[in-house]
Amino acid sequence: MEDQNTRILAIETSCDETAAAVIADGTSILSNVVASQVELHARYGGVFPEVASRRHVEVIHAVVEEAMRQAHLGFDDLDCVAVTRGPGLVGSLLVGMNMAKGLAVSRDLPLLGINHIEGHIYSLWLTEDAPHIRFPVLNLIVSGGHTELILMTDHGRYQMLGATLDDAAGEAFDKVGRLLGLPYPGGPAIDKASELGSATTFRFPRALMDTSVEASHGYNFSFSGLKTAVMRQASQYHSTESMPVADLAAGFQAAAVETLVEKTAAAAAEYNVAAVHIAGGVSANRALRSAMRARLEVPVRVPPLALCTDNAAMIGAAAHFNFIRGRRDTLDLDVTPNLQLV
Ligand code: KG4
Ligand code: ZN
Repeated sequence: MEDQNTRILAIETSCDETAAAVIADGTSILSNVVASQVELHARYGGVFPEVASRRHVEVIHAVVEEAMRQAHLGFDDLDCVAVTRGPGLVGSLLVGMNMAKGLAVSRDLPLLGINHIEGHIYSLWLTEDAPHIRFPVLNLIVSGGHTELILMTDHGRYQMLGATLDDAAGEAFDKVGRLLGLPYPGGPAIDKASELGSATTFRFPRALMDTSVEASHGYNFSFSGLKTAVMRQASQYHSTESMPVADLAAGFQAAAVETLVEKTAAAAAEYNVAAVHIAGGVSANRALRSAMRARLEVPVRVPPLALCTDNAAMIGAAAHFNFIRGRRDTLDLDVTPNLQLV
């Protein structure tokens, strides 16, 4: 069953990217089309849900057609149509969901709803490291909406070790970026600004660093205190022009990265994992990548940039491994945030 051949069309519209991809056998990308709305939302300093769903409606047909065209396949060549079922913005998710259901009915194709986080996890199967992946794998999912440490013991078998208690890591980068007057999204801007700053001028708090059982927060994260500390420091200056932006950015990034790395290292040791995989938009962060590699003895794998941020290729990869296990959904498929943990 493991080597069953599949051609899957995947659709992803959970946030501000309208994306469609065709994936062969869960590991090769035949096409990967992403229509980003970043410029549209930049003027609001964040994703505006109503605007996001309207734009998805406008471009979804063209994005799916382009993915099929680039893959040089007809709908008859497909085994399944997969779609992100959540978590995400409900209005956005529904656009992809309805498109996938329409195709499933009109083209007589099986339908499969995929969890967005599971998609990020499977982005690693689209890399050249795929043949080397052994379980257990520790996944650190860090995006604008998520900060989760998930132990994966086999395909489709997950154990949630920890999550953020407040802001997601990417959300913290975005909020701090905004208060430092950096362009949206804050993550890449802070990554860049930090290069010119000193990470030690400002020492911001590292929250919940004790992972012992007695400390009881285990592998959970918290970023709101860190954000508030940066805000308090930044408020000492009259304007963003007079702020030491690079030093503030570097100080914030160092604290965020240290928290992520230390928790991941502790969990990797406790569960004796074969590798650590980092996925989600924040995995693009260069300081996080290098600190993680320096700290851990097991291989640390990160997808290439285009697969770090939201895309449909990762949804197609996750769909393959669900499909070959016999999973199918019906037209009753609804948006739902839960990652099935078994
Ligand atoms: O996975 P993603 O595209 O969308 C969500 O599912 O949220 O992640 C977007 C997040 C944003 O918060 C963005 O600021 C962050 O990823 N991000 C980064 C970097 N590139 C993107 N954060 C830190 N450093 C980066 N280089
Ligand atoms: Zn995402």
